Amino acid sequence: MKVVTTAVEARKCINALPSDCTIGFVPTMGYLHQGHLSLVKRAKEECDYVVLSIFVNPIQFGENEDFDRYPRDFKRDVQLAEDAGVDLLFHPSVEEMYPSPLLTTVQVKKVTEKLCGAYRPGHFEGVATVVSKLFHIVTPHRAYFGLKDAQQVAVIEQMVRDLHFPVTIVPCEIVREEDGLAMSSRNVYLNPEERKQATILYRALQEVKTKNFATAQEINQFVREKISTQPLAQIEYVETLAYPSLESIDQIKGERIIVAVAVRFGKTRLIDNILLRNGEVFDA
Ligand code: PAF
Repeated sequence: MKVVTTAVEARKCINALPSDCTIGFVPTMGYLHQGHLSLVKRAKEECDYVVLSIFVNPIQFGENEDFDRYPRDFKRDVQLAEDAGVDLLFHPSVEEMYPSPLLTTVQVKKVTEKLCGAYRPGHFEGVATVVSKLFHIVTPHRAYFGLKDAQQVAVIEQMVRDLHFPVTIVPCEIVREEDGLAMSSRNVYLNPEERKQATILYRALQEVKTKNFATAQEINQFVREKISTQPLAQIEYVETLAYPSLESIDQIKGERIIVAVAVRFGKTRLIDNILLRNGEVFDA
């Protein structure tokens, strides 16, 4: 595995590949876990050459968010990436990605307005901007994103369509701990009691499948009540929307829907979701 820190070095490695070599790309903010490694595994199955980026992107964090304390362990990440069979690890500094004040950003409208977009102003502009920069540097044929961030997937898909990026976005299933908690680098923030109570997100979302709800409001109310049984859970949102348009819906009529939640346990903000059509989980 080659490790590079500059865009020029990354492009040099990529330009040296045979013209028929397919490039798979897994963008991450590091502190790798099985969720990231499952994306690498899928990329390896489908592509000839796999690039992983590790960059904690400052412009997607709000002022009072966790940029400074976001977990980082580059040495461990290098080992995990190497063991997973990554070919090129791109680990730029903030100065490398943002050498001068940024005057150009990518703003995706509409799909960024609800869910996390409503609570984290500027977040998706930061994500879309860094992902488009990374796409220009890595020039992937296929890029792999986890569906825990289902809104992020919808935003990137919209951006790729609107701006004609020659890349296929591959949404990948959420990877979970044994008790159902969605894997996230931020799970390390949870203390043992918060960690225990956080499993309610998965349990509440799974229960939605077993009921025959007629409206989005009924689903939201049911999930809210379930999550509220845990005293440490502070709900930010519980929303049921059409997916991937993220438009509001009223009656559930067999369209593809997302039931998405953001909940704080102490200082840790967790998100999770389930994608359903006619009560069955569907592939995004
Ligand atoms: O999902 C993430 O880890 C980040 O939002 C991404 C896509 C790497 C952009 O910084």
